[in-house]
Amino acid sequence: FVPKSAGGTGGGLAARDAAGSVLKAQPYLASHAAGSRELVLGLQGEATWLIVDTDKALEPFALNAVCTHLGCVVPWVPAENKFKCPCHGSQYDRNGKVIRGPAPLSLALEHVDVSGDGEIVLSSWKDEDFRTGEMPWWKF
Ligand code: FES
Repeated sequence: FVPKSAGGTGGGLAARDAAGSVLKAQPYLASHAAGSRELVLGLQGEATWLIVDTDKALEPFALNAVCTHLGCVVPWVPAENKFKCPCHGSQYDRNGKVIRGPAPLSLALEHVDVSGDGEIVLSSWKDEDFRTGEMPWWKF
């Protein structure tokens, strides 16, 4: 499923790796396998999961890694195809939709676009959450 992108990169911020370097789409995709999820620095400098889809393209959404229960960073568990919070056991599916509490809400979304010069750009997700059909619970 490919959600509608907001289009454009107005107001976006380049995704950065842990060292603070701006990430470019071409080298990122060349060095990441289909289905990979990797933590990058996202909006407000928060840990954010950047996702390569099964066709080896960037998913048009990234996931804020902060658990909606009490704020632990939620790891991806490839063997189980889900995100599992180590703090109190909440689980999220591959798209960050909450599937087990105590977390009350799904992981927050961010848009992913590629700028004209190839940078991976994140921006606020203000439209409907494609996982729930509801408007975002998160602030942007
Ligand atoms: Fe993630 Fe409590 S902080 S389950």
